[in-house]
Amino acid sequence: MTSLDDLEYMRKLDKSNMLQFLRRFPEDCRRAVEITKKADLSDLADLQFSSVVFVGMGGSAIGGQLISDWLRDKASIPMYVSKGYRVPGFIGSETLVFAVSYSGNTEETLLVFKEARERGAPVICVTSGGRLLELSQEGQLPYILLPEGMKPRAAIPFQLFTLVTALKSLGLIKDSWEEIDESIRVVSTLRDELVEEVTANSNLAKRLALELRNKVPFIYGSEFFEGVAYRFGTQMNENGKVPASSGVFPELFHNAPLGSEGPDEVLDPLGMLIIRDLEETEQETRKIEGFKAMFEDRVGKMVEVESRGKGRLARMLSVLYLGDYVSVYTGILNGKDPSSMEAIDKLKSL
Ligand code: PA5
Repeated sequence: MTSLDDLEYMRKLDKSNMLQFLRRFPEDCRRAVEITKKADLSDLADLQFSSVVFVGMGGSAIGGQLISDWLRDKASIPMYVSKGYRVPGFIGSETLVFAVSYSGNTEETLLVFKEARERGAPVICVTSGGRLLELSQEGQLPYILLPEGMKPRAAIPFQLFTLVTALKSLGLIKDSWEEIDESIRVVSTLRDELVEEVTANSNLAKRLALELRNKVPFIYGSEFFEGVAYRFGTQMNENGKVPASSGVFPELFHNAPLGSEGPDEVLDPLGMLIIRDLEETEQETRKIEGFKAMFEDRVGKMVEVESRGKGRLARMLSVLYLGDYVSVYTGILNGKDPSSMEAIDKLKSL
C-alpha cells in the first residue's frame, strides 16, 4: 500500500489541514462570491477605468493572473499583474487597483499600494487583516475581508472569486454568471474523485504524484493556462517541497526544444507534465505533439492532463484544483507537512 492510501499517516503529517482546505474549496468559492456581494463598492460604481492592476505576491497574485489569462482575448482594457517592488508606470487615477495580500503584511504589496494611492488610483483591498486592513480602514477605502486562519496559498478560492465578483459587479467582466457557476460545479465534481479517501488506483491526483515522484516537475500549458501552469509549479514548491518549473506554449516552442539535446544526467530527473485543452488550435496540437516527441524518450517521465468542463474558466480551474491536490500528495510522499512555511517566512524576515 502507498502512504497515500494510509489515511491516518496522511492526516498526522498534514498538521495544518491542507487536505481539509482542498476539500472545502468549492464551498469557499461560493463564500467568496457572497462576501464580495456584501462589500460596499458603491464609491467605484460610476467610475470609468482605462486599466486594471492586480497587486500581490505568491498565492495572493494568482487570482489576478488567472483572470488576466481567462480574459486574455476578451477584456476591453488591459489587466496587468504587478508582482514586486516596482510600481507600474501607467498606474493613475483611471486605474482600478486591487491590493491583494492574505496576511495584509507583505512588504512589496504594501509599497505598491501606497504609491498607487499617492497617484490617485481607486484601490480595493482584499485581505484577512494586517497592515493592509488598517490602512484601508484609515483611508476609508473599499475592502473585502477574507476569513482568517488559512495559509495564503490555500485561500485561492477567495483570492480568485472576490476579484471575479467585484469585476463582474463593476461591469468589467462581461461573461455570464453561468460560466462562473460552471467553474465551481466542475471543481465540486472533481473533489469527489480526488479526496484522500479515494485510493491511488482510481485517484488521478495520487497517480500523478506517484508518477512524478522523485522527479523535478516541468509543467507546460498553452496561453490560457499560463497562470495555472505557474500555480501548479509553485504549489509543487510550497506543498510538495520540490523544485519545479513551468512554461507556456507557443512561447516555449521558440526555446525549450533545444533543451532536449542535453545530457542524460540533466534530463533523467525531469518529470514533464503537459496540460491539454479543447481550445488548442490544430497548429498548436501539431506543435505540442512534435515537442513531446522530442522529449518523450529523453526525460524521466512524461505525463499529460486534460482540462475538464465547457467554459474556459472551468477548464482552467479544473487543472488548478488537480495540481493543488497533486502538490499536497507529493508533500506527503516526501514525508513533509504540506502546509509548512518556514523557508518563506525566513526570507520575509530578512
Ligand atoms: O503561498 C504563500 O504562502 C505565499 O506565496 C504568500 O501568498 C506570499 O508570500 C504573499 O503573502 P500574502 O498572501 O500574505 O500577501
